[in-house]
Amino acid sequence: MPDLKQEIQRRRTFAIISHPDAGKTTLTEKLLLYGGAIQQAGSVKGKATARHAVSDWMELEKQRGISITSSVMQFEYEGYCINILDTPGHQDFSEDTYRTLMAADSAVMVIDAAKGIEPQTRKLFKICAMRNIPIFTFINKLDREARSPYDLMEELETEFGIGTYPMNWPIGCGSDFNGVYDREQGRILAFNEFHRGQSKIQAIQCSLDDTETLDELIGEKLRGILTDDIELLDGAGYEFDIEQVRQGKLSPVFFGSALNNFGVEPFLEHFLKMTMPPLPRLSGEDVVDPFDPHFSAFVFKIQANMNKAHRDRIAFMRICSGKFERDKEYFHVQGGKALRLAQPQQLMADDRAIIDEAYAGDIIGVFDPGIFSIGDTLCDKAQRVIFEGIPTFAPEHFSAIERTDTMKRKQFEKGIEQIAQEGAIQIFHEPFTGVEEVIVGVVGVLQLEVLEYRLKNEYGVDIRRRDLSYEHVRWIVGDDVKPSDLNLTSDTKWVQDFKGRNLLLFTNPWNITWALEKNPGLELMEFSRN
Ligand code: G4P
Repeated sequence: MPDLKQEIQRRRTFAIISHPDAGKTTLTEKLLLYGGAIQQAGSVKGKATARHAVSDWMELEKQRGISITSSVMQFEYEGYCINILDTPGHQDFSEDTYRTLMAADSAVMVIDAAKGIEPQTRKLFKICAMRNIPIFTFINKLDREARSPYDLMEELETEFGIGTYPMNWPIGCGSDFNGVYDREQGRILAFNEFHRGQSKIQAIQCSLDDTETLDELIGEKLRGILTDDIELLDGAGYEFDIEQVRQGKLSPVFFGSALNNFGVEPFLEHFLKMTMPPLPRLSGEDVVDPFDPHFSAFVFKIQANMNKAHRDRIAFMRICSGKFERDKEYFHVQGGKALRLAQPQQLMADDRAIIDEAYAGDIIGVFDPGIFSIGDTLCDKAQRVIFEGIPTFAPEHFSAIERTDTMKRKQFEKGIEQIAQEGAIQIFHEPFTGVEEVIVGVVGVLQLEVLEYRLKNEYGVDIRRRDLSYEHVRWIVGDDVKPSDLNLTSDTKWVQDFKGRNLLLFTNPWNITWALEKNPGLELMEFSRN
């Protein structure tokens, strides 16, 4: 019988975030290879999904397994049990991408050394920063021409307002890439033709004073640059402070090349040492200790099955405390009911298996007959835990939709409501207009296509869709504000969400500034707490 404390202690649950093409899939794959979870590179399937154009998506989704298996990957490495959460990108980018970050205890940010911070990295970083989770940076593709490492770190600091601490330092880049200098151990990991793709790279113990050996290894020119760089770094006041790392204020930075499997293993080892086992979560004022033997979990993602023959959905839960056991009865707090979770599954790299038990830090998927909503809590019957809600993230694409068949009102409303409950779309209404149109907001534009497809196929409703030019939404803070009295630009729209909260839709950021300037005291929020 595994010891509860030990099992939880050895778990690490993190998300990998990046802009498409920075190397997230390649890095994930290399990490899985270390854990022996996959046998060869090219097995991580998320990429295939991500690469497909919109038109292929429906077909792919029917073979649902693809995106499900790539959602979470669990593997063992040197006694640790590691859960990697995939954050879908490209056309798959959606609210789910953000919500997945709610289930992680830390994040690894992959950055292309030639490009630096890109738009999707920016969006994802913001969500991680909101939760103050530790963020580790892997600057990738050093085997190609890259920007100066100083530049990259400065960009991270000024744009993200965090400190950075280079754990290693690159020696050249592109065709001149000779490896990295490991600052902690004072040694060199040399990169040359011989090392390409190797899983173990022999570290060469070499003091910076040993000019002869260094010249042999990396040449005189690079040796000169490296010694100057390290002197500068050591003197520049980049202090390492593990507490700052754990509070998300300081990001340890690693340079490497995922494709060449260079710098991945040292990264993994440092990462595991610096990260914590599952973090405590808040339930109201109370702190839920992950080591508390009572099971508790929250739903962070619901995935509908596109196969018409199986109208079921899968609810993904992050276990926050204790141990989950297959046949035990648990309590669904929001539904006020005790239940047994049907066919609990854990998702491995290229497989999924029904599981008998899982521990705090793990992610499980259960069949959902339509009873769960995003943010719901499950727990031992004796407890009533309610985790802090998952915020509603600001949609970035809007469309006005109405049904073409006037007879289908009920089906239309039911469909829209259910799909919104899964968290795939947000619905808004224009107050006092009496218009039958519904305004739908989504984070990823593909969700509009999916909505149209699902309404037709699952609910038999055809819709007319009119995409709108709004790109920004803000919730109005305070119930005493009368939106109709606000001074707004003519292309700003006032709408209400399903809870009757007032929001404003803007076509561009300048109109937001305008609204704030012209209406002193007006407070706007980018996220809404559910
Ligand atoms: P993503 O998941 O973040 O979207 O990125 P992915 O890993 O798919 O990598 C994007 C491209 O960058 C891939 O090339 C991949 O091989 C390449 N790449 C990843 N890491 C490195 C690296 O360290 N050095 C270099 N030079 N390239 C790297 P592709 O040609 O688009 O795909 P493929 O044909 O190689 O699969």
